[in-house]
Amino acid sequence: MATTADYGLGEYTFPRGWFMVADAEELKSDPLAVRFFSRDFVLYRGKSGKVVMLDAYCPHMGTHLAKNTSSYVVRDGERIEGDSIRCPYHAWRFGPDGKCDDIPYSKKIPKAACVKSCTVVERAGAIWAWHDPEEQEPDMELPLFMQWDDPAWVRPVFDDLGMLACHPAEVVDNIVDVAHQLPIHGQDVFEFEVEFKNDKVTHRETGISRTALGDAGAKLSIDATYYGPGILLSAMGGRFPSYFLIAHTPVEDGVIHVWHAALVQSANVPPGANDIAMARAFQAASRESFAQDFEIWSNKRPAVDILQLPDDGCYARSRRWYGQFYRPRSEAAGIAEHINGTFGVRGVARPSASEVGQDQ
Ligand code: FES
Ligand SMILES: [Fe+2]
Repeated sequence: MATTADYGLGEYTFPRGWFMVADAEELKSDPLAVRFFSRDFVLYRGKSGKVVMLDAYCPHMGTHLAKNTSSYVVRDGERIEGDSIRCPYHAWRFGPDGKCDDIPYSKKIPKAACVKSCTVVERAGAIWAWHDPEEQEPDMELPLFMQWDDPAWVRPVFDDLGMLACHPAEVVDNIVDVAHQLPIHGQDVFEFEVEFKNDKVTHRETGISRTALGDAGAKLSIDATYYGPGILLSAMGGRFPSYFLIAHTPVEDGVIHVWHAALVQSANVPPGANDIAMARAFQAASRESFAQDFEIWSNKRPAVDILQLPDDGCYARSRRWYGQFYRPRSEAAGIAEHINGTFGVRGVARPSASEVGQDQ
């Protein structure tokens, strides 16, 4: 397993950006113990419905705020009060800002009685957290995922694909990797280009797919954008206008957690049972296609250096683009400025115009 330092991406181990940290369905009444960026967190829903993500360990004596079943705080259902959470050990209570706001046996609350609170947003059925090594406010947009609330689209159920012991740099390589499309995905690519634009990179391609994602022999168009380092949204034309979403979040240096979902436009509004069944089948086909990449990533040795051909995609540019998120944000604009632009691949035609809109 190779690390961020091995790839020379930047000085921070984990990138700055928005990352998926849970399927909102997982977050019912019990707090969740989650681990990302080599840190443990507690994720819970307050009584108002607000989602809160705090560092997991109580500053009093280090108790994990989520991992307990036997304390009377837990048994009596007193863990979540309003939008605050009580520690199971001595019942100190912490607000959504991470500050201790009640110690049942003491009038004095020390200033140091606080845990770090993360910026989180609940959107499109998922919980998204802002991670920033410099601990500043978000400077990137989280996609709106507009189709999620559009009755003309079938709302998906997330596939939790679990852990992948592969550095995310290699997953992001996929955005420029035109040469794997035919052997891995059975996709005969006719046109291809990649556009780097600040914190986003988009690939546009058209081709014919052998998989269940396309009609046999019919042209398929894909317009896939990374919104920062961990959220990929692909708009697909063809038989089923759709968006598929891949979210990957660092857990340790060189290990990620991956989720997948597909939003599919329905023939009927609101979608009927058949439309939902079609959308589920389409998501399964999309998952199967992604599983082909996943199998490679699960078993390969790290490609810290790529034996690059001129006919390959622009891996070096893509990795420099990805590296901006591992460096101070004051350097990111300068890095992007040198990378921005639209690039083709030798021997492959460029699309005349994007055939599917990217309106997230
Ligand atoms: S360890 Fe949390 S209140 Fe004592
Ligand atoms: Fe792929």
